[in-house]
Amino acid sequence: MTDGPVDPTTTPAWDRLADLAADFSPDLRAWFADQPDRVERLTFDAADLHVDLSKSFLDEDVTSGLLELFEQTGVAQRRDAMLAGEHINVTEDRAVLHTALRLPRDASLQVDGQDVVHDVHEVLDRVYAFADQVRSGEWTGVTGRRIESVVNIGIGGSDLGPVMAYEALAPYRQEGLECRFLSNIDPTDAAQTLEGLDPETTLFIVSSKTFGTLETLTNARLCKAWLLDALPDSDPDESVRRHFVAVSTALDKVADFGIDPDNAFGFWDWVGGRYSVDSAIGTSLVIAIGPGRFAEMLAGFHAMDEHFRTAPPEQNVPVLMGLLDVWYSTLLGAQSHAVLPYSQLLHRFPAYLQQLTMESNGKGVRWDGSPATTDTGEVFWGEPGTNGQHAFYQLIHQGTRLIPADFVAFAEPAYPLSDGDQDVHELFLANFFAQTRALAFGKTADEVRAEGTDEAVVPARVFTGNRPTASIMAPALTPSVLGQLVALYEHITFVQGAVWGIDSFDQWGVELGKKLALEVGPAIEGDAEALADQDASSRALIGWYREHRS
Ligand code: F6P
Repeated sequence: MTDGPVDPTTTPAWDRLADLAADFSPDLRAWFADQPDRVERLTFDAADLHVDLSKSFLDEDVTSGLLELFEQTGVAQRRDAMLAGEHINVTEDRAVLHTALRLPRDASLQVDGQDVVHDVHEVLDRVYAFADQVRSGEWTGVTGRRIESVVNIGIGGSDLGPVMAYEALAPYRQEGLECRFLSNIDPTDAAQTLEGLDPETTLFIVSSKTFGTLETLTNARLCKAWLLDALPDSDPDESVRRHFVAVSTALDKVADFGIDPDNAFGFWDWVGGRYSVDSAIGTSLVIAIGPGRFAEMLAGFHAMDEHFRTAPPEQNVPVLMGLLDVWYSTLLGAQSHAVLPYSQLLHRFPAYLQQLTMESNGKGVRWDGSPATTDTGEVFWGEPGTNGQHAFYQLIHQGTRLIPADFVAFAEPAYPLSDGDQDVHELFLANFFAQTRALAFGKTADEVRAEGTDEAVVPARVFTGNRPTASIMAPALTPSVLGQLVALYEHITFVQGAVWGIDSFDQWGVELGKKLALEVGPAIEGDAEALADQDASSRALIGWYREHRS
């Protein structure tokens, strides 16, 4: 697909939506009263996810305008091009095929003359075999002791996916095997991650798509030094062989680092870092939860891919949610989007989504290099309920900004506990139901007065309501459901990017800072010429730093 994107603002659908946005005054109370079928019409099942969009800002006109926009911007064609392996990542001239990572073994997909499904399963089989060896104790450290701790060294997509899923699937972890995640180049992270670990029973997984990322390679060298220092009586090459494995697309660089190619698991340039949790980048997760559970997660991803591929647009949940987010952010001017999991296990999910959505869609030019014609990219943020309720929900309920919020909850608790009187999960879920209700319908001044409230404080106690939410529920947070949830957001991100006409799969915006960090090194060390090359503010800050360090 080399054609330029359709400019969404030139479509008749955009004109229609812009008109609707100009005097949009949502009234969820009235909509619910006037539309007895609203909940039924706007509730959808996609694989195991049960998604209620009835408390969103979709009315009939908006929905049909958005569906026209979907048509007129060619989103379905771009989706099909992606799934077929066309090079839709034009700035890197690459296919975008994270969906191939979860195709079943008996599927086939030829891309650039290669059956990628065969390649995917070949690597998966090696990862699974390795994980089984670690889990069973057959794989030992250099002194013959079984592995008890796994440290994944990676950053961005080579960290956030594995750590998010490791936390989310905590109930499925094998006892006696702990995973830790080292990402930040701040030495504090390494110090705290290595704290208390026994080198003889620790395995390091160096995860880096490019194997060129400063943070990851520095941390890998640091961990290698830590290991070798602690095992002076063992052969260093053998120590590295037994305690270091790597995951990368750059297997030559892995070998240069000293990691045995037999202990390296590959993936491909058509997997974006932030789309890679279901590739070999998930090796730490496979070790933690086992190949069977990981395969269930992949099947969950695939089920959502199939829904995205085949469901008609008006019932296609990623399509509807992606379009809805364009409505909120570009047409109604919402400045951010909250994601609020009612599951402590999903406490890293918002951080994971931040990379997925913001690294994908934070772009100012379209895929043909022309400037974007609308605002792009949503600012995602969130925290698990109910903690968020006691922190920032005030602003969502009564602030002046429009903040659409996605609520996520599960019928079954991971840990069914009672406080003696009641099921605590039910109490927890009561908050989930209550919050979306309060946000949608609020509390009028008359209702406040009817509670006997002093007139002076009535305005402060009014809830305007009409704060839009999406409710995503599933029976339980299983590996399959986690895969479905992640794939849902991958495809929402895709739909938004396709409407805006941007390449959601490159990330040139992070390159400049990386390059400048390398240039600033000599200046920090006192090189006068390098210091002179810095701007006045940076020179002053570096000077202050040099005066204050010990
Ligand atoms: O910071 C940009 C980025 O390239 C991300 O897209 C990526 O997930 C991360 O760095 C880590 O990259 P790598 O896996 O190549 O080490």
